[in-house]
Amino acid sequence: MKTRVIRVLDDLPKLQEPAEALRQGQLVVFPTETVYGLGVHALRTEAIAQVYQVKGRPSDNPLIVHIADWCQLQELTPPLSPLARFLMERFWPGPATFVLPKLEQVPLAVSGGLNTVGIRMPAHPVARALIRRAGVPVAAPSANRSGRPSPTCLQDCLEDLEGRVPYIIDGGPCSVGVESTVIALTGGAPRILRPGQIGVQELEAALQEYSATEEKRWKGQIEEAYRKQLEEGETPEAPGMKYRHYAPQAEVRVVDCGLHPEREASWAEAVHSLGVPFGYVGCQEGAACLQKLGLNPQWSFVYGHLAEVEQATRFLFASLRALDRLGCPVVLTHALPEKTALAVAYNNRLFKAVGGGSLPEEG
Ligand code: TXA
Ligand code: MG
Repeated sequence: MKTRVIRVLDDLPKLQEPAEALRQGQLVVFPTETVYGLGVHALRTEAIAQVYQVKGRPSDNPLIVHIADWCQLQELTPPLSPLARFLMERFWPGPATFVLPKLEQVPLAVSGGLNTVGIRMPAHPVARALIRRAGVPVAAPSANRSGRPSPTCLQDCLEDLEGRVPYIIDGGPCSVGVESTVIALTGGAPRILRPGQIGVQELEAALQEYSATEEKRWKGQIEEAYRKQLEEGETPEAPGMKYRHYAPQAEVRVVDCGLHPEREASWAEAVHSLGVPFGYVGCQEGAACLQKLGLNPQWSFVYGHLAEVEQATRFLFASLRALDRLGCPVVLTHALPEKTALAVAYNNRLFKAVGGGSLPEEG
C-alpha cells in the first residue's frame, strides 16, 4: 500500500480527502497535541479490526474514541452526570480521556470487551477539523507499532506505519509529547488510570470549583490507580498499562541521582562499567556533570535545564527513537523530580521503557 503524506499546517481544506477515507472505514494517522493517533471510524467493527492488525496490538486493550463536538457524546455514552460534564468542560478540549459507561452501539472491538468507553476531545486544530469533517467519532490508539514509543513527529509515524496505512497527516511535532491522562468516572471518586499532563492537583482544584461538598467528599481520595501493585494475573483497570510501552534495543540506565543530577558520584558509578559508546538523554546539569567527569556520550539529547519539564516531556519519545536509529547500545538518563503532573507522567513512561523487560508488548 502506498502511504500519502498530507502536510497540513493551516490549509485545512486538504483534510477533505482523508476525512472522507475515515468515514469509509479506512485508517488515517493524524496529529494531536499529545502524540499522533492511528484513526478509524469508531462505530464500524470491521474497520476497527484493521487497527489491531496494523499495530500488532492485543485485542483486550481498548481504544480511545476522539470527538470534536459535544453532541457526539450522545453516540457513545448515556447522559452525563453533572460532575462528569463539569470535568469535561474544565479539561476539554485537551489531553484528558474520560472513561464512562458505553452505549451498546459502541463496538466491543473498541472497548476491548469492556462495558465502558474512553473518550477524548483533543485540542489540536488539525485533529478537530479532521474529526469534524469526517462527521463520525474516531477511535485512535497512539500511531506506533506495538512495543515502540508513541510517535510525536512525522518521521516517527513513517518509521512505524509507512506502507501500512493510506494516509498520514503531518501537523508538525506534538506539543505535549506524552499521552493523555486517563480518568475513570465510573463511580465514586475519579480514578487516574494513566498519568498525563492533568494530575491529582488539577482534578482536586476542579472539584473544589465544582462544589465544596464534592471536594470534601473526595478530598485525598482521587486514586492514582496506575501506582497500584498488581497481584499475579490481575489486570489493571486500564488494560494498556499492563503492557510494556517500549523496550529499546539499547540498554537504558536511569541514573540514581534523585533530585540532584549534579551529584557527580551517581554518574561516575553509573558509567563505571560501561566500556562502550553510550548515549545521553536528560538535562544540561546532568550533561555538565558527565563532562566534568571526563565522560563523553557519543550521542546526546539535552532538553534544557532540569526544571524545564515541558521540554523534557516533548522530546522524550523522539529522543529514544532517534537513539535507536543511531544504533546506540546504552542510554544514560535520569528521572525528574515529581513536582508536577507532567513530571509524574514523564517518569511513568521512562520507567515503563526501562523496567518493562518483564512486561508483554503493548501498542
Ligand atoms: O493521548 C492519547 O491518549 C493518545 C492520542 C492519540 O489521543 N492515544 C493513546 O491511545 O494513547 P492508546 O490506545 O495508545 O492508549 C489508550 C490507553 C490504554 O492504556 C487503554 O488501556 C486505556 O487508555 N483505555 C482506553 N479505553 C479504556 C477503558 N474503557 N477503560 C479503561 N482503560 C481504557
Ligand atoms: Mg499507545
